[in-house]
Amino acid sequence: MRAVVLGATGHIGAHVVRALLESGHTVRATYRNPAYRFVLEGLPIEQRQADLDDPAAVRRAVDGCAWVFHCAAYYPKFTERRDQAVERGLAQIARVYEVLAEARPERVVYTSSAATITPQRDRPSTEADREPWPLTHWRPLYATVKVAMEHAVLHYADRGLAVTTVHPSLCLGEYDAHPFSGRLLLLLARGLPVYLEHHFNAVYTGDVGVGHVLAAERGAPGAHYLLADRNVSMRVLAELVARQRGMRPPRWALPYPVALAAAAATEAVAAVTGREPLLPLRAVQMTRHRQWVDGSRSRHALGLPHTPLEDAIQRAMRWFEAHGYLKS
Ligand SMILES: NC(=O)c1ccc[n+]([C@@H]2O[C@H](COP(=O)([O-])OP(=O)(O)OC[C@H]3O[C@@H](n4cnc5c(N)ncnc54)[C@H](OP(=O)(O)O)[C@@H]3O)[C@@H](O)[C@H]2O)c1
Repeated sequence: MRAVVLGATGHIGAHVVRALLESGHTVRATYRNPAYRFVLEGLPIEQRQADLDDPAAVRRAVDGCAWVFHCAAYYPKFTERRDQAVERGLAQIARVYEVLAEARPERVVYTSSAATITPQRDRPSTEADREPWPLTHWRPLYATVKVAMEHAVLHYADRGLAVTTVHPSLCLGEYDAHPFSGRLLLLLARGLPVYLEHHFNAVYTGDVGVGHVLAAERGAPGAHYLLADRNVSMRVLAELVARQRGMRPPRWALPYPVALAAAAATEAVAAVTGREPLLPLRAVQMTRHRQWVDGSRSRHALGLPHTPLEDAIQRAMRWFEAHGYLKS
């Protein structure tokens, strides 16, 4: 198959490219900022520059490709206003999917997130617990924008576009050149003295890359697949990182109200300096609900590989060290 990966220099995109090559497919990779092309160095692929906000560039990027992997995405800044962030996300989806609706590729794999699934109080949530849009209850900014964008994509699926949606949980691994999920690993590796009572699911990004390809090869159009692995707490993640770095793990849990107060203080400083807050309020709000998921249905349906979290952390650390993000 000839496949195009939109956002191939991103953490997930870089793994999707490699998983496609591994399965013998022909790959066109798009990037926006050329400074990040180093994550694709040496790969036998065609590379094209394409900004998703430019429909003509998207048209050229998908031309002649049977499969489209939509991994590039707008990430709202922690400081962005909620309504504006939703509007920006929806506008980007409309621009890209109007082009795809015309181009009619055989399959689109859309990278959504486990954050679009409602956390359940009494059990890990599954694909069946996806959030409605508009939301019926409070969700953090990132989740809100991702839910809005996912529903906008589903609107095109209803109109006949063959879209399969994948929902990765927190991805850990190499090629994380714009660390977002990796930011947590970097903070812990640099000796963060405290941890939050935060519960989430984490998965090796290499397995997520393979999951995207399996979703195109074996997944059904219109279906949703959770790409998730291990339910952990931040304390456990901190211990795994500390063990690999030969450091002491953080000893103190920061209670949620204290974390909120600390975040409010750093936001006040940021308002004066005009910089991103050290501890954004919305990052703390993301930890409010336990986000454990059960990805076993998708694991069996797609035949997902399983890489232990310890290996994922080690690969991420080695890559961060080799690329100057972290001192060895
Ligand atoms: N990482 C995770 O843990 C995780 C978990 C669940 C879901 N997701 C979702 O997966 C998707 C990809 O995440 P990621 O972690 O791989 O992100 P990432 O590492 O930050 O990469 C994002 C990629 O998208 C590109 N991009 C952003 N806006 C663009 C635009 N307007 N036009 C063209 N390219 C654009 C970026 O290009 P530049 O280099 O030019 O910035 C970059 O290549 C996102 O939708 C995210 O919400 C991520």
